[in-house]
Amino acid sequence: MSKSLTIALSKGRILDDTLPLLKLAGIEPVEDLDKSRKLIFGTTDPDVRLLIVRATDVPTYVEQGAADLGVAGKDVLMEYGSQGLYEPLDLKIANCKLMTAGPVNTPEPKGRLRVATKFVNVAKRYYAAQGRQVEVIKLYGSMELAPLVGLADKIIDVVDTGNTLRANGLEPQELIADISSRLIVNKAAMKMKHARIQSLIELLAAAVERRAG
Ligand code: ATP
Ligand code: PRP
Repeated sequence: MSKSLTIALSKGRILDDTLPLLKLAGIEPVEDLDKSRKLIFGTTDPDVRLLIVRATDVPTYVEQGAADLGVAGKDVLMEYGSQGLYEPLDLKIANCKLMTAGPVNTPEPKGRLRVATKFVNVAKRYYAAQGRQVEVIKLYGSMELAPLVGLADKIIDVVDTGNTLRANGLEPQELIADISSRLIVNKAAMKMKHARIQSLIELLAAAVERRAG
């Protein structure tokens, strides 16, 4: 039976915050990921390799079994919306809040609300649960711009310090969910490589606790 493990990560804050946890679990990349254009990296554990993918693509790689494990923001997982993954561990990294936001001191428009976001599924579910009719406008970034130029009334995005909203004359409004990054696991891999994956989950859980303590 294969003992090898493939872990999907995205560059940026998830990689930066996950590498110290993997290091505590005895796994370190053998080269500097930020200095390379490669997308597959070996590690100090000959049975473990890392894949570099886009943040929103991590659940796809893991659900399809191209990676055994991955690290993804809860926002990304809520938007992906699949039951086809295990989510055994909150890594308590990349903490932020998924919120609605809109122009400061501006009453809501009468009639249908226009909401710009990259979290289209989350937005539809959120307003449907309130029985509100909204027009959801899909964007891929710079959501804060949309209300400033009349593309939308509100946005849904992740907020940490609130600096990006403030810099654009917007204010945080309703909290949709507290967000952190999660370890996700392919369901078949969890069965086939159970001992190997379970021991990695335990090492990472201890690393999360050590980091918090
Ligand atoms: P891509 O770069 O592929 O468009 P992305 O911009 O969402 O994706 P990152 O900015 O690296 O990728 O964010 C990864 C995860 O980190 C997000 O899914 C979210 O959970 C969290 N996150 C995003 N912005 C912040 C922030 N300002 N502070 C803390 N955590 C954040
Ligand atoms: C994220 C998010 C917000 C910002 C919120 O962007 O899309 O714009 O962080 O953080 P703040 O409340 O601390 O300002 P990110 O920094 O990831 O840049 P990006 O737009 O390239 O994803």
